[in-house]
Amino acid sequence: MKNETTEKEPVMIRQAEEILEEEPWYVSAMSSLSALLMASMADLNWAGFYLVREGRLVVGPFQGKPACIHIPAGKGVCGTAAAQDRIQVVPDVHAFPGHIACDSASASEIVIPIHRGGRVAAVLDMDSPVRARFSEEDAAVLAEIVRRMEQKILWD
Ligand code: SME
Repeated sequence: MKNETTEKEPVMIRQAEEILEEEPWYVSAMSSLSALLMASMADLNWAGFYLVREGRLVVGPFQGKPACIHIPAGKGVCGTAAAQDRIQVVPDVHAFPGHIACDSASASEIVIPIHRGGRVAAVLDMDSPVRARFSEEDAAVLAEIVRRMEQKILWD
């Protein structure tokens, strides 16, 4: 099931909410959310989470090929999003300085910081083999899912 039309994306928000309601513990919630995102959005080759741990990012629950396990602070798209605490929408990853190519199929990427107690605790990372895959509308929907995660997720 691939929801390609934007009017179906609010369904994805509701489904994300249901996952968080049923099990807010971060391992279960992030695993189920990565599966939901991968199944719901067209043209993805990776969807998942990196967690801030001991000053760097460590891979968390995801769907896709095995990826980089550690990302140094400030490096790549994920490290930049975490360090700057800013959503990154990258239409062409090959033009992004310091992009970390975990999967050579990736052409575009979106990364959204996730906060715990006002600090970046994790990021949502999604990759696509299609250039400029992620629209501003996608970013808004994904940011809303992240906002709900921030409200509900249990980190311990
Ligand atoms: N490309 C990312 C690394 C993570 S993988 O895409 C899953 C980056 O530059 O941060």
